[in-house]
Amino acid sequence: MRRIITAFFGLTIFVSQSMAADIALELPRNYKSDYDNYLISDRLLQEDQVISLFANDIARNGAKTNGKLPYGSILIGEIYKVQKDANGNVVQSRLGRRIPTDLSAIVMMERRKGWDAQYPEELKVGDWEFEVFSPAGENLGKDTTACRECHHPLTDTEFTHSYAHIGGGN
Ligand code: HEC
Repeated sequence: MRRIITAFFGLTIFVSQSMAADIALELPRNYKSDYDNYLISDRLLQEDQVISLFANDIARNGAKTNGKLPYGSILIGEIYKVQKDANGNVVQSRLGRRIPTDLSAIVMMERRKGWDAQYPEELKVGDWEFEVFSPAGENLGKDTTACRECHHPLTDTEFTHSYAHIGGGN
């Protein structure tokens, strides 16, 4: 019995230590009114979702002027479910686009100096930190290892997928 308890505590300590390395982000309450809604798109890797992307002024001005996303940049993605038919197939509009319905989650990236320091080389992403929130803005405390792995190779585009759209005009 004691051994089981020891093992259990060992695991608890390990879990809480790995969580501590992940910097918790807060969802900016004003992003819908103050940020630039730079792209609404069918998601590339999820066939039944749409993403609506927002960038703050620091990111937008950086992308427009010297082609970089400076410290203080924040990018937010609202993820929407899409309309499906009675068979569960995704409905396309006359434009060949998915039709967003309910907001299902909010993803966020924020860039601050030194925020990569605690991560191993293969998870470094140019000082960005990641977070996932519920539609109501509650931090879901998700493990962000997968986020880092998929954004890590994108060194030419500031570790983002939608970089070319951020400084674009509208
Ligand atoms: C398997 C690859 C993959 C993983 C894992 C992933 N992303 Fe992304 N991410 C993308 C792609 C592709 C886009 C472009 C928009 C789209 O199609 O959804 C994107 C876009 C984003 C954006 C908008 C900025 C940009 O890079 O264009 C944010 C913010 C974001 N992801 C946050 C997250 C968070 C938070 C996680 C982890 C919970 C995560 N991502 C995990 C592939 C990934």
